Amino acid sequence: MSIIISPSILSANFDHLGDEVKKCVDSKCEWLHFDVMDGHFVPNISFGSVVLKSINHYDIVYDVHLMISDPLKYAIDFIKAGANIITFHYEAYENKEKILETINFIKSHNVKVGLSIKPKTSVEAIKEFLPYLDLVLVMSVEPGFGGQKFMDSALDKIEQLAALKQENHYLIEVDGGINDATGALCKQKGVNALVAGSYLFNASNFKEKVNSLR
Ligand code: DX5
Ligand code: ZN
Repeated sequence: MSIIISPSILSANFDHLGDEVKKCVDSKCEWLHFDVMDGHFVPNISFGSVVLKSINHYDIVYDVHLMISDPLKYAIDFIKAGANIITFHYEAYENKEKILETINFIKSHNVKVGLSIKPKTSVEAIKEFLPYLDLVLVMSVEPGFGGQKFMDSALDKIEQLAALKQENHYLIEVDGGINDATGALCKQKGVNALVAGSYLFNASNFKEKVNSLR
């Protein structure tokens, strides 16, 4: 299966956001990564469903990453705004029932569901949820900001998830510090989707950079 590229528009130029999304489409990126931060689950605030609604008319998969404390409360806004995949964090809820409720809520609206783990969370912690997921997002930086350095601990997690995949049907995505070198390491371990923000948007040759990840 070929690799999926999901540019994180957190690093885009918001002065002309539509052009930045179009650049992703024109460069044949499969997905568009939409980082939502609430200033509570993570120490930063980004953008919400209103922004998603205004850019959801391009031919690309909208890959929404909710770094927020109460994803169940806000998921409907992103569903209505055109999300194709909604990923929330395992660490957002302390109880298992709430995690399952959120998974089921998203799925019941025919939207794909992902669960993400921060660098300090093990694959073991989410093992029981794997049969219900369309995607697992491994964070290779502490969530909150673009432009951080890739953490090698993500590689083992990707490998473990790839091994567990035999019995399940989820995709494995990695997010944080991805460039041509770290992306290649993740691909060796069996990742399916690469999120890349600063590596793509801070470059003058966007399309070349996208191709360097393939
Ligand atoms: C971090 C976000 C990432 C971030 C990636 O909290 O979830 O998607 O934008 O940015 P880079 O690729 O610059 O690490
Ligand atoms: Zn992200």
